[in-house]
Amino acid sequence: MFEELKTLATGIGERRIETLFADEGRAGAFSLSAEDMLFDYSKTQIDAEVRAGLLALAEARGVAARRDAMFAGEKINETEGRAVLHTALRNLDGAEVRLDGVDVMPPVLETLGRMEALAREVRGSGITDVVNIGIGGSDLGPVMATLALAPYHDGPRTHFVSNVDGADIADKLALCDPDTTMFIVASKTFTTIETMTNARTAKAWLADKGVSDEGRFIALSSNQEKAAEFGIPADRVFGFEDWVGGRYSVWGPIGLSLMLAVGPEGFRAFLTGGMKMDRHFQAAPLAENLPVLLALVGIWHNQVLGHATRAVLPYDNRLLRLPAYLQQLEMESNGKGVSMDGADLPYHSGPVVWGEPGTNGQHAFYQLIHQGTRVIPAEFLVAAAGHEPGLRHHHELLVANCLAQSEALMRGRSLDEARAKVADKFEGDELERQARHRVFPGNRPSTTLIYPLLDPETLGKIIALYEHRVFVEGVILGINSFDQWGVELGKELATALGPMVTGAAPVEGKDGSTAQLLKFVHTHGRG
Ligand code: F6P
Repeated sequence: MFEELKTLATGIGERRIETLFADEGRAGAFSLSAEDMLFDYSKTQIDAEVRAGLLALAEARGVAARRDAMFAGEKINETEGRAVLHTALRNLDGAEVRLDGVDVMPPVLETLGRMEALAREVRGSGITDVVNIGIGGSDLGPVMATLALAPYHDGPRTHFVSNVDGADIADKLALCDPDTTMFIVASKTFTTIETMTNARTAKAWLADKGVSDEGRFIALSSNQEKAAEFGIPADRVFGFEDWVGGRYSVWGPIGLSLMLAVGPEGFRAFLTGGMKMDRHFQAAPLAENLPVLLALVGIWHNQVLGHATRAVLPYDNRLLRLPAYLQQLEMESNGKGVSMDGADLPYHSGPVVWGEPGTNGQHAFYQLIHQGTRVIPAEFLVAAAGHEPGLRHHHELLVANCLAQSEALMRGRSLDEARAKVADKFEGDELERQARHRVFPGNRPSTTLIYPLLDPETLGKIIALYEHRVFVEGVILGINSFDQWGVELGKELATALGPMVTGAAPVEGKDGSTAQLLKFVHTHGRG
């Protein structure tokens, strides 16, 4: 499928990206302004011919039709027989969204209204701390967005407990007063072992402190029955349907902790941003469509050029958890080995996504991005302005660093330049040797997404942009981006191993390595 593009890519590595800027129109021609943001992909090897090839691929793979099928409520999650309608959660104008002939919007808006009423009630009460207990999509969306929107917090403090490691809940509970703390049990299935274990521990903590748990627990789940079994009354349960995937669920009830932190208006602004990106994705021609272009740049780097990873580098400290959030969004969605029809994928699935905010990463792993032997396409994100008017010089330094990194990756430093740098310190062979260590190959691709300010609406746009980018990449790869069977085997084995860890069951049928590790736990773990 990528043959033509691979032909175009032959020898392209020899061409220096900076030489493409001999065309003075390049920066404008290889960037896209939409929805108040600018996506600049001019510091890549993509030229007009490559872009035309990528767009033709998107056409040929039926991206537009698949997109329309998603918004129209068709069951595009074919392995689970489900529609994919998280976009309905942010469809604030309430326009009809039909699933099996029934408009899903009235219950969606009703639940949103109930969440807002609850948020107003809690924010006006004496509750000082809210602990969201959830994992994966029931954690990463809310924790990422809550951190991102810290300047907009005017509600109770929010904490997030996800790991089954007791250290997680112990550390968070140590910050809370049992008399004024509320718990949100966020789990689509309400069966996830980590979440249910932490939820029971939270209940026991209140009991231990002599505090009744009445009114202290809220459930966010598709499984009302299990929530009731846990003891949460129906009026404290906020449900959502199976057409909202876990990693796409921050827009609905799973976003309650965010709503409690920033208030119903702030949350609506976040939804509005998502909705605006949806409208753009639906209406813009492929060549002017932000999610499509992000996806095509991704396909070019991963499937065509063979760069296996993608670094996401937000120069926005409050996007600290964005890389982790995107790891789930991108890798759980597009980390698949078979195409929709069950055949082995004849090319690589989605990339490994990783990253850290700048400038911190610069002092840690950028060394490898600049001088390591593998090319790592980098995605920079940065706001034109920060939220701290008194610290403007900080923001200016932050922006300067972000722009410097993409420039350095592209330009590199030649041997001659490196020699000139150290010519006053060394001579002869030693000069040559020292200079070679200071060479940067350059010609390393990066993109930059720049936006005015990380406010709730902009965050909504960014997250929806990435969701649709993952969707487009999945369509081009011909995979189902909406299931996650790959997480099941480990869960099954952990359930079977549990009694072997406690000693309730003998260690049988295990390989030598696992048996040896269990033996170490039995010897050293029960102090
Ligand atoms: O194990 C993977 C997963 O199913 C994710 O897809 C999901 O976001 C997470 O677990 C949590 O699931 P739940 O919300 O049902 O507890």
